[in-house]
Amino acid sequence: MSQGTIVVGTSTAQRIRGLEMPWNRVLGTQDQAATAAKALGPWHPQEFLAECVQNIEEAGGLMTFVFRRVDGAPLAFRAGQYLNIAFPVYGEGEEMVDRSYSISSAPTVPWTFNVSIKRDPKGLVSSWAHENLRPGMVLDMLGPVGAFHLGDSDRRARYLFLSAGAGITPIMSMVRTIHTLPGQADVIVLCHGTVPGDFAFWPELEYIASVDPRIEVHYSLGDRDKPKSWKGFAGRLSAKMIEEVAPDANGRKVFACGPEGYLNSAAELLRGLGVDDTSVFMEFFSGDRKTLLEYQKEIVLAESIAEEVAESVEEFYESQPPELVMYEPEYDETGTIEAGGQELVAVAADAPVPPAEPIDEQLPPDTSNFETVGEGTITMSFVRTGINVKINPDQKILGVAQGAGVRIGANCQEGMCGSCKVVKLAGEVNMNHQGGIRAREITAGKFLPCCSTAQTDLIIDA
Ligand code: FES
Repeated sequence: MSQGTIVVGTSTAQRIRGLEMPWNRVLGTQDQAATAAKALGPWHPQEFLAECVQNIEEAGGLMTFVFRRVDGAPLAFRAGQYLNIAFPVYGEGEEMVDRSYSISSAPTVPWTFNVSIKRDPKGLVSSWAHENLRPGMVLDMLGPVGAFHLGDSDRRARYLFLSAGAGITPIMSMVRTIHTLPGQADVIVLCHGTVPGDFAFWPELEYIASVDPRIEVHYSLGDRDKPKSWKGFAGRLSAKMIEEVAPDANGRKVFACGPEGYLNSAAELLRGLGVDDTSVFMEFFSGDRKTLLEYQKEIVLAESIAEEVAESVEEFYESQPPELVMYEPEYDETGTIEAGGQELVAVAADAPVPPAEPIDEQLPPDTSNFETVGEGTITMSFVRTGINVKINPDQKILGVAQGAGVRIGANCQEGMCGSCKVVKLAGEVNMNHQGGIRAREITAGKFLPCCSTAQTDLIIDA
């Protein structure tokens, strides 16, 4: 061995062949993985609070909000997933408005995470966020959610990313992730936008493409007029355009995100080019009805998983030995030992424990003198309105209540938006919701009358 040669260990160095997420090895290891590293395992959606720590204005009318979890934990997610966020659009203490937004940052930078929101002048939440969401504000979040994401490992990491408009946000998370990881990858990005200079994240995309030979970025202006200085593509997505940027599209995994029309045409073009449907992954960013329903289903599932996770964490902490605290007795001037202002009294170890004070259970309000309207076998009493409404077990509660003059706001009428949420003071309902209410709200006695029928007589706080 020549002098100066350094051999580290005896094992052969392994090259990372494809793309491998950093948590993959931690999760696969037989040894006890470090707790912090395990915490990064993106397995379960959780409900958590996150504080906005920075606002960044992006091109294309987007604003990036940088968050960190209030509990100090890293956010574990997979590149491409989204969060369901409760926005206090109507003010603190009022009903929250839930919306889902993709995470645009990379999970490889997990201590803060970004949500990039495009302002829709007609949109309630996006306008509110642009005007009001500032550093220091804390929001309630649920997630990560969504099956549109990069895999934990991919030995043939050859991708074609297609995006239109704000559909770039989950794609941006994927590009950033790949850029921060070692390993072989071959990424082609094709972004559709309307105005040169208005493509979201383009300065960063340009930079990444200039320093990372694995990543190539193309832009197209769609149907708009092409200025003389424009060097990118023009026109809608076409087979010719796909073939030009990715002649080997058949052989790549395709991730596409954008409006419905764009994705429908992408699916057809890719099929025509021989790309197998199983290699194509899509996400609508502007929700048509079907997509919203799919989102809501995922969120309902995520909520139940989050509840289970929270319970198992509680169980874990409860099973831990109590923290040892040094007892420091206090002395008064006469020398008597006192603890917390109460004299200590010697008690035999087997002395009976006095019974707990009985809890004064709240009785439901008296509704017997309310005016009664309608016909049916079940009585719904609305205590604020002061009315009893008779209803049959198969009738939806909202319509009958509104018909009787009870003021309950409602938008979707399908259990999605949560705008009709009311508190039930007594009785049982059968609710068939689509994500408009959270599990803990149901536990707290709330329900959505638009998608509920009465099982028993009800007393409602409305
Ligand atoms: S009206 Fe939307 S959940 Fe009831």
